[in-house]
Amino acid sequence: NRYEFIEASTDGKLGHISLNRPHVLNAINQQMVLEILAAMEEFEVDDTIRVIVLTGKGRAFAAGADIDEMANDGAIDFELRNQFKDWDRLAMIKKPIIGAVQGFALGGGFELALCCDLLFAADNAEFGFPEVNLGVMPGAGGTVRLTKLVGKTKAMEWLFTGKRITAMEALQYGMINRLVAKELLFEETIKFAEEIANQAPLSIRFIKESVLKAVDVSIDEGMQFERKNFSLLFSTEDQKEGMIAFQEKRKPNFKGM
Ligand code: HXC
Repeated sequence: NRYEFIEASTDGKLGHISLNRPHVLNAINQQMVLEILAAMEEFEVDDTIRVIVLTGKGRAFAAGADIDEMANDGAIDFELRNQFKDWDRLAMIKKPIIGAVQGFALGGGFELALCCDLLFAADNAEFGFPEVNLGVMPGAGGTVRLTKLVGKTKAMEWLFTGKRITAMEALQYGMINRLVAKELLFEETIKFAEEIANQAPLSIRFIKESVLKAVDVSIDEGMQFERKNFSLLFSTEDQKEGMIAFQEKRKPNFKGM
């Protein structure tokens, strides 16, 4: 492992990233974001990797951006460092990312979770934006992604109060895909990740792209985008293989081409 604040490894078709600063509940410093990005970009161009799984070591997913690192910052420091460009690049990863959250996912940790395409959460997971208690607000997409996900009503309430959201509430509001017992979180996430990893990779890729586009644009624009991606898949070997396999009543063998 050549990283300081994360662990990255591969296992078959899965690329694993685990936040690894457990003594500060995986508080996210700038170097950690760069490392997450480096690992993800490596998985992105590795043909064997189909799905990225993101977890946190210790008792939290991540309790937010590193408060000690930014306590003395001024407004122009963030601007000059262009610090959020790394977060923007995280959102450009085209392979599916599954987050497994146990314990706290707060502030920047919640924002990182919201960058995942699918979320599994343990029954002890707690999400929240406590920035308001620090005299600031989310800066890596919190007000944007949470609002798009659950709507203005709850987003405003949670952002104003900084209150922590239980895994059960997260499930109720459609913020997570599965609520799992803590002991089973990793196992269940992997099982699901393997399932996605065996689907036609280019279908998964273009579905992700189209869904993310749909969150962002009008129905009409989204439809145009979907149509292009739909057509594009008819230029792939996997489309021929998938449809011929259906006609021959056998399982398809997808190659990602
Ligand atoms: C730096 C942190 C930290 C953080 C926890 N720690 N969160 N250090 N930045 N965000 C450290 C604590 O200082 C402590 O270190 C150790 O982790 C264990 O935490 P405790 O507080 O002792 O644990 P506990 O009592 O269980 O409380 C857990 C907690 C609390 C409720 C999660 O740690 C907490 O409120 N953390 C801050 C949460 C927060 O405000 N996050 C938003 C940050 S702003 P020591 O050395 O004392 O053992 C943000 C903006 C994002 O994320 C902007 C975009 C990037």
